[in-house]
Amino acid sequence: MASHFLSLGLIMLITSSFSLASDNSPLQDFCVADLNGPVLVNGFACKDPKLVNADDFLFRGLHLAGNTSNPDGSQSTRVTVEHLPGLNTLGISMARLDIAPGGVNVPHTHPRAAEMVLVIEGSMQVGFVTSNPENRLISKVLQKGDVFIIPDGLVHFQRNVGHGNAVAIVALSSQNPGLITATNAVFGANQDIPNDLLAKAFQVDVKVVDQIQSNF
Ligand SMILES: *[C@@H]1O[C@H](CO)[C@@H](O)[C@H](O)[C@H]1NC(C)=O
Repeated sequence: MASHFLSLGLIMLITSSFSLASDNSPLQDFCVADLNGPVLVNGFACKDPKLVNADDFLFRGLHLAGNTSNPDGSQSTRVTVEHLPGLNTLGISMARLDIAPGGVNVPHTHPRAAEMVLVIEGSMQVGFVTSNPENRLISKVLQKGDVFIIPDGLVHFQRNVGHGNAVAIVALSSQNPGLITATNAVFGANQDIPNDLLAKAFQVDVKVVDQIQSNF
């Protein structure tokens, strides 16, 4: 008897920690996001179910290549709750990543999601770095058909290591994974982080910091 209570307690502990570790679980079939609604909640309030239609669950166009004519040579086309309101409360989203030859998807993190990367064209190096103190780089070169995992919140990158375009379809464990680009956060904040602080952080002269900040 006691062991039953113990295992019940364990199950409750495990399931409750699961629900805390990702987007909230849905309590109904769907809660299509009311993107322009006045109610502010964690996620979006639900559109009146009677007004929901099939278009709320549809996104078209992920077969189209993103425009990689930019300094990074990469483009990510996101399908998150903003673009597909039916994703609200479901804890998933998707993206298409296009990288031109020589291009990179610079180091970044998704604060609310793990990521699965499926390469469907070309070859792509994918890597992530573990937390302090190890800061271990875990990286692979992927070919068409290969899938790589990036755990929740870790800094990661992709680069095209082939001669043609590289394309990946990405699955994410949040309706709104968020995107923090390491360089933008550190050097491109709307108000600069003090340069003497960054000079200490990077162990360089403040002039070097000034130069990098002027690039963002
Ligand atoms: C791609 O982006 C570049 C730079 O913003 C722009 O000049 C070009 O017209 C875009 N190409 C297409 C096909 O939209």
